[in-house]
Amino acid sequence: MTQEKGRAGIYIHWPFCLSKCPYCDFNVHIRPQVDQARWRAAYGRALEHYAAVLPERKIVSVFFGGGTPSLMEPETIRFVLDRIRALWPCASGMEVTLEANPTSVETDKLSAFAQAGINRVSLGVQALNDQDLAFLGRKHSVAQALEAFAVAKQCVKRVSFDLIYARPGQTLEGWEKELSQALDHKPEHLSLYQLTIERNTPFYFDSEQGKFSLPGEDVAADFYHLTQDILEEAGLPAYEVSNHAVPGQESRHNLLYWHYGEYIGIGPGAHGRLTLEDGRKYALRDHHAPDLWLERVEQTGTGAHEPVYIPPHERFSEALMMGLRLREGVAAARLEEEGACALKDALDMERAALLEEQGWLFRENGMLRLSREGMLRLNAIVPYLLKEEEQQVQAQTL
Ligand SMILES: C[S@@+](CC[C@H](N)C(=O)[O-])C[C@H]1O[C@@H](n2cnc3c(N)ncnc32)[C@H](O)[C@@H]1O
Ligand code: SF4
Repeated sequence: MTQEKGRAGIYIHWPFCLSKCPYCDFNVHIRPQVDQARWRAAYGRALEHYAAVLPERKIVSVFFGGGTPSLMEPETIRFVLDRIRALWPCASGMEVTLEANPTSVETDKLSAFAQAGINRVSLGVQALNDQDLAFLGRKHSVAQALEAFAVAKQCVKRVSFDLIYARPGQTLEGWEKELSQALDHKPEHLSLYQLTIERNTPFYFDSEQGKFSLPGEDVAADFYHLTQDILEEAGLPAYEVSNHAVPGQESRHNLLYWHYGEYIGIGPGAHGRLTLEDGRKYALRDHHAPDLWLERVEQTGTGAHEPVYIPPHERFSEALMMGLRLREGVAAARLEEEGACALKDALDMERAALLEEQGWLFRENGMLRLSREGMLRLNAIVPYLLKEEEQQVQAQTL
């Protein structure tokens, strides 16, 4: 069978950080020393493996995520990008994003990252007051974060930053001030995440022991609405649940995920979604532990587990989950294409009608999309909408 020729993004995972933030459950490891030359070579080999299987792709975006990929040597970034350009045709103006932490050491490297080929930086600012930065276990101050933002803007055209809100003890007034301070710096993209307490993190145990408490559901909803109001007013509407941009400045790489497009994931624990040589779509996942990943790549050329076939009904539910995150929603025709079925065969249309009556779901111009109130309930709405047999399949795969 012929292989689908098309666009793809590449995600590169760098699994190391200087220290572990108490809220974070990403695949992160603390190492005093990392052998960059060894990692560089391993990324190169893993890329070659994918290029041999998928030579016909056009690469439209690359995203260095982590962990803290700003701890990579600029030389490592340059090597990976050179390999990608040598192995595949790349879109002109390919978006190349680096997640960066705003410590002074990393800020000093921003210009070298830009020279290595980074053209978009996503800075982990997280809070704009020093007390909360300390609470979040961050190793930088507000002043350092703002300095990093200013330097990043001189080095690359597109800079975004992340903030975490609905923090313990945070007031709506405090958040409003922080947002207004953030907007004073004229960002064109902002990622604004509600603090989530992830299982088995230090914050999880602290909150279990009552060391702090989070805003209740109603207050968290107030935070969400306030955020939407302020950002809409400022000309950076949400284009996804937590992501805001001046129109045209959306993250193209992340849009690829939400449009349920194709992407290669390389590095410990990285995921991919790809149509392989047999024309069928597969979920790919790399080995989670950094040392095991490195060994597997060095010994076999790939750090990936066996690809897992995604049957059409799962493609439908994945595309629905991703697409409803977007403000524009998801095209019914796109869902039908992924699911190889009519919408009514996969969705409970009576429930869809109930959600519409409630004002949480809209169906218009061939699109399904959620209202703001709907977005607040996204995780409950998707399983509710899927027909029973779909939910069972979802439950079995959890
Ligand atoms: C891979 S992480 C971090 C990238 C970078 N190492 C940093 O810390 O800035 C990407 C973003 O996810 C957000 N994040 C991580 N854990 C979170 C949590 N438990 N609740 C809310 N946001 C979280 C943070 O805003 C973070 O910048
Ligand atoms: S939030 Fe960022 S710096 Fe902190 S542990 Fe997670 S990935 Fe590392």
